[in-house]
Amino acid sequence: DKGGYKHFMAKEIAEQPGVINTVLQNYLSDTGEITLPGDGIDFSDVDRITMVACGTAYLACFTAKYWFEQIARLPVEVDVASEFRYREPPIPAKTLAVFVSQSGETADTLAALRYCDGKADMIASVVNVPESSIARESDLALSIHAGVEVGVASTKAFTCQLTVLFLLVLKAARDRGKLTDADLEKHIADLRTLPGIINTALAQSGKMQATAQKLSHASDVLFLGRGQMYPLAHEGALKLKEISYIHAEAYASGELKHGPIALVDESVPVIVMAPRDALFDKTVSNMQEVMARKGKVILISDAQGIAEASDGVWSSIEMPSVAEALTPILYALPAQLLAYHTAVAKGTDVDQPRNLAKSVTVE
Ligand code: F6R
Repeated sequence: DKGGYKHFMAKEIAEQPGVINTVLQNYLSDTGEITLPGDGIDFSDVDRITMVACGTAYLACFTAKYWFEQIARLPVEVDVASEFRYREPPIPAKTLAVFVSQSGETADTLAALRYCDGKADMIASVVNVPESSIARESDLALSIHAGVEVGVASTKAFTCQLTVLFLLVLKAARDRGKLTDADLEKHIADLRTLPGIINTALAQSGKMQATAQKLSHASDVLFLGRGQMYPLAHEGALKLKEISYIHAEAYASGELKHGPIALVDESVPVIVMAPRDALFDKTVSNMQEVMARKGKVILISDAQGIAEASDGVWSSIEMPSVAEALTPILYALPAQLLAYHTAVAKGTDVDQPRNLAKSVTVE
């Protein structure tokens, strides 16, 4: 049942404030304690984390790497499951292995988990299907409570994965003595405002539709991001190519001049994901290099960022302000909505894109 929406993907994008709220209800007590199921995880015994997944779930891991390293000061390696499983990497002592999978049945992710069995100190998974193989074979399965996701392109599962992972980061930071009571309370208060802020972002959907209309004529699109926005640039490119079949690539903003800038001319839209954070000025200078080569910039930022840097851009998309640590969750929305509206403008099959399956249970 599409609940009045034209596509499951549109319905699932719109459900995000509600399902994120459900995650918070399941993992936070009234007094703001982070509550994990079972015996939880004691991060004072963990020296490093290995995170493994495929596709969008991999990009949730990649985002969490930034959080774990910055907030909990824990080193994290991330890998795509199909590479990890055959590389057979050494797993040092005190490693926590984390597997993220919406379906819980992805063949490569399950094989990577089985490789870690008996080698990692603990195997945790972040899944949407609690009865799935990946959940059953983990020491601890953390449910993302997203509800059934029908659209082949993952949307609400991604933001719920991120929310669960962020809570795990806060728990890790606490266990390791890296977060004061006051900072923890601030992060939790910020998280509780997130569903409302995402609702505000959803209200920008109409404006994104206008930008997507222009984007639908492109044959190649670049996404740029720096810091926490780098994994999101990848998510934007993945969503766009999956459902609109437009060739899209993501680069770290700082990599631009090491190659990709050669691609830029007046036919290439460049989507710059840049909230007004500590790295904003650096990203803006990369964006100006794009404009100097006549690239058509679509700037996704907040009111302040747009006021400061939107001179000469092709289009801008304004996001509400949010706590800096939570920008990856919020900026998933424009990544999803731009792809969605572009696909609708092109008339592609949004919910069942060609050649793709919802659950990849064979290699
Ligand atoms: C992208 C997408 C895929 C999945 C990937 C992993 O929109 O849906 O990239 O994220 O196939 O699937 P799960 O999470 O079920 O392991």
